[in-house]
Amino acid sequence: MAFTVRLLLLISSLFLVLESLFVQTNSGKVDVGASLSATAGNSTSWLSPSGDFAFGFRQLENSDLFLLSLWYAKIPDRTIVWYANNGDSPAAVAKGSLLNLTADSGLVLTSPRGVQLWKSESISGVVAFGVLNDTGNFVLEGDNSESLWETFNYPTHTILPGQDIEKGGKLRSQRSETNFSKGRFELRMQDDGNLVLVTINLPTEFVNAPYYASDTTGDSNSSTAGTKLEFNSSGYMYVLRENGEKLTIKEAETVSARSFYLRATLNFDGVFAQYSHPRDSSGNWSVVWSVPDNICNMEVASGLGVCGYNSICTLQGQRPTCACPKGYSLLDPNDPYGNCKPDFIQGCEEDKLSPTNDIYEVQMLNNTDWPLSDFMQLNPSTPESCNQSCFEDCLCAVAIYRVETCWKKKLPLSNGRVDSGLNSQAFIKVRKGNLTLPVPQPPNPDDKKRKNQTTLIRVGSALLGTSIFANVMLSAIVCMGFFFIYRKKHVRPNQNVLDSNLRSFSYEELKEATNGFNEELGKGAFGVVYKGILQIGSGVPVAVKKLDFVVQDSEKEFKTELKIIGQTHHKNLVRLVGYCDEGQERLLVYEFLSNGTLANFLFADTKPSWKQRIDIAYGVAKGLLYLHEECSTQIIHCDIKPQNILLDDYYNARIADFGLAKLLMMNQSQTQTAIRGTNGYVAPEWFRNLPITTKVDVYSFGVVLLEVICCRRSVDMENVSEERAILTDWVYDRYLEGVWDAIVDNEMEALHEKTKLERFVMVALWCIQEDPTLRPTMRKVVHMLEGVVEVHVPPCPSPYSSEG
Ligand SMILES: *[C@@H]1O[C@H](CO)[C@@H](O)[C@H](O)[C@H]1NC(C)=O
Ligand SMILES: *[C@@H]1O[C@H](CO)[C@@H](O)[C@H](O)[C@H]1NC(C)=O
Ligand SMILES: *[C@@H]1O[C@H](CO)[C@@H](O)[C@H](O)[C@H]1NC(C)=O
Ligand SMILES: *[C@@H]1O[C@H](CO)[C@@H](O)[C@H](O)[C@H]1NC(C)=O
Ligand SMILES: *[C@@H]1O[C@H](CO)[C@@H](O)[C@H](O)[C@H]1NC(C)=O
Ligand SMILES: *[C@@H]1O[C@H](CO)[C@@H](O)[C@H](O)[C@H]1NC(C)=O
Ligand SMILES: *[C@@H]1O[C@H](CO)[C@@H](O)[C@H](O)[C@H]1NC(C)=O
Ligand SMILES: *[C@@H]1O[C@H](CO)[C@@H](O)[C@H](O)[C@H]1NC(C)=O
Ligand SMILES: *[C@@H]1O[C@H](CO)[C@@H](O)[C@H](O)[C@H]1NC(C)=O
Ligand SMILES: *[C@@H]1O[C@H](CO)[C@@H](O)[C@H](O)[C@H]1NC(C)=O
Ligand SMILES: *[C@@H]1O[C@H](CO)[C@@H](O)[C@H](O)[C@H]1NC(C)=O
Repeated sequence: MAFTVRLLLLISSLFLVLESLFVQTNSGKVDVGASLSATAGNSTSWLSPSGDFAFGFRQLENSDLFLLSLWYAKIPDRTIVWYANNGDSPAAVAKGSLLNLTADSGLVLTSPRGVQLWKSESISGVVAFGVLNDTGNFVLEGDNSESLWETFNYPTHTILPGQDIEKGGKLRSQRSETNFSKGRFELRMQDDGNLVLVTINLPTEFVNAPYYASDTTGDSNSSTAGTKLEFNSSGYMYVLRENGEKLTIKEAETVSARSFYLRATLNFDGVFAQYSHPRDSSGNWSVVWSVPDNICNMEVASGLGVCGYNSICTLQGQRPTCACPKGYSLLDPNDPYGNCKPDFIQGCEEDKLSPTNDIYEVQMLNNTDWPLSDFMQLNPSTPESCNQSCFEDCLCAVAIYRVETCWKKKLPLSNGRVDSGLNSQAFIKVRKGNLTLPVPQPPNPDDKKRKNQTTLIRVGSALLGTSIFANVMLSAIVCMGFFFIYRKKHVRPNQNVLDSNLRSFSYEELKEATNGFNEELGKGAFGVVYKGILQIGSGVPVAVKKLDFVVQDSEKEFKTELKIIGQTHHKNLVRLVGYCDEGQERLLVYEFLSNGTLANFLFADTKPSWKQRIDIAYGVAKGLLYLHEECSTQIIHCDIKPQNILLDDYYNARIADFGLAKLLMMNQSQTQTAIRGTNGYVAPEWFRNLPITTKVDVYSFGVVLLEVICCRRSVDMENVSEERAILTDWVYDRYLEGVWDAIVDNEMEALHEKTKLERFVMVALWCIQEDPTLRPTMRKVVHMLEGVVEVHVPPCPSPYSSEG
């Protein structure tokens, strides 16, 4: 008997133990003192009794950080319905951070070093325990089971059945699908009883006009005023009016909350939608309903639409996608819903430099509109006159034609959308060709203010990208501009021309642009050249030359020389874009040319065509002519060689490094010049006590010309016989013998143009005359190459050496 009693007692106490175990694991209850640690794995969360929901740390995608959140635990998606946040940003924490449940402050999140990162706010009273309810609500309760804090009262982007939003409450979107920072959209239950969807202008909280409203406004005496948004536990969502009536957000087929998980989420793209998911782990979330019907059609006067500025919204399903028009690109490539920027600078200043119809082409888009950016309306109009009117108007970025009306619009364009119901045509102006380089702007002498502009980097695609006509026009205008300035300078000596046509960069900027001087393009006589990208348009590649000489007390000279270089504008010169002059750091920023140096081109394994080489020769000659005679201050290059001649996208020759010789020679007497050109290309007067004139460049050009003709190095000790090692001597001998096929190595294309070949060789031989006075000027060289003037038989280039 006693045994039976003891057995019964034992069984009942066992039962008690079992029961307490059962309660501990299934009540969803969390005791004060419990903690969770942010580590990868499954031990980092608390479950609701049914196991439907989990509360704890979730590792963020592609990140070492963890987010304190609440999610559906049974479905593969593990969809997050709530997350801890500090207003603008999610409380993402490092591995090893701790969440403690304390009696005083409720939930407290601390970093591995013990710094408090987040806590459950506004707790008054002592917390007895926490509980994760099967509704998906995490509640902190006091001794009398009163709720002190619950996640339902601090919703993020999602509302669950059983949850309300009272007046003053709101849901907010996150930044993107994976970024939990605060986004631009909010669902607000306003104090006036109206439920609205709005965009806010970040970083302030300025609220734009709603793009959806329940229209339940009213003062508290009005029985139809809204009181709160309710998502009742059966899965119905409505605005509850004062009089108890329910205004359903959107009529839709009923989905049973018993067999489906339900949630309503304000998506990062501004669409507020209710979703359902089968309670068993099969299947996916599907949309029950969503508002607004077409979010692309929202019009937000003082803010962005769904998509960023200049972007175009297209509805796919019920969700928006954004795209930039052709000729525009994303400001932040990682944010497809963000702003688009034109890949060119559009505006009257830029347009002035070139005839309009050479810069732009028009792209036509059907049923596309940016309804809010017009500055002019024309009526009546035709599609053609609408297009033309915008085309000719430098303020106009796009024109929309619809029903005999033309709307001309300016940048930035906002609220862009595609909608087949629009029945409109859009004419967008886009620069022809690719984004090209910043062109220094010729200062306007009448406009003093512009002399102190810091944004002088301009994108003038005309100079590079379009027709020769545009090039000539632009060059002419630029040259005239500078000529004017140059003359004016004598009147107003303090005028700082440098500031007005070159951009001054900080060392930091260039360090950033070159990614810490990472990619070396080459080493020259003056320093190392690095590749960089300026953040203009979709990124402008540049070559940054770090000058490795520092001449003391030469600040003024440096600027003077830069000014001279900055004033040069010729299609056969590499353009200087800007400079950096900071302490000991002297850097020059040039346009980047994609096709490398003439040296690499000429002496590569495959021989470039005769035609290409001829064009390059003309280019170099014209570039030098410009330096010697056509720019405002004469520039002697002093180091013409194939390594200093670059090739652009179209294989035009572009002379580099001009103007630097003088910089380097500052403070140095002529005789001890450290720079003496490069062996093989150097005029003899460098070695004799003769004045250095433009003729040194003519000499070097002659050598380069022979290299271009023969595709051989001027000095080649390794690969050829001694007889052929010195190209100039060898060519002269072959010329005397009349052995043309040897000179061009039997190249048929060249031999077919024998007169041209002869002419070129003879010009080269004139250029390399030892006596500088015998060498022609570059102007004469150009004329001779072009066949405009006759080329006489050249004398022996080096009579002295052949004598000796
Ligand atoms: C977590 O648990 C789930 C289901 O129990 C399992 O599939 C998953 O592999 C676990 N993850 C880790 C990191 O242990
Ligand atoms: C949180 O809990 C852990 C483990 O229980 C404990 O070591 C730590 O001191 C607690 N931190 C705070 C701030 O209470
Ligand atoms: C959990 O939810 C149920 C049903 O909504 C409710 O009756 C219960 O009071 C909730 N528990 C807590 C602790 O909030
Ligand atoms: C999330 O977006 C914000 C705002 O655009 C940005 O500052 C932040 O770096 C982003 N976070 C991540 C992890 O990408
Ligand atoms: C509501 O009605 C009462 C009596 O009609 C009036 O005194 C009060 O000002 C009204 N309140 C508002 C907010 O209009
Ligand atoms: C939720 O609202 C619907 C529609 O008014 C109603 O039929 C249903 O009974 C409500 N459910 C609960 C639990 O109140
Ligand atoms: C759920 O969606 C994924 C991709 O979105 C799809 O591959 C899968 O087949 C869907 N599952 C069901 C049951 O529809
Ligand atoms: C645009 O509409 C015009 C006339 O309505 C039509 O001829 C043209 O093919 C359409 N263009 C595109 C790209 O759809
Ligand atoms: C718009 O006008 C420009 C300039 O006249 C013209 O070149 C272009 O073809 C026109 N485009 C359309 C679609 O009419
Ligand atoms: C523009 O640049 C891209 C990439 O740099 C190139 O693929 C494309 O051919 C260029 N287009 C023109 C018209 O030069
Ligand atoms: C340019 O303007 C800024 C302020 O707008 C001024 O600080 C600076 O001294 C000016 N520079 C010159 C060269 O006038």
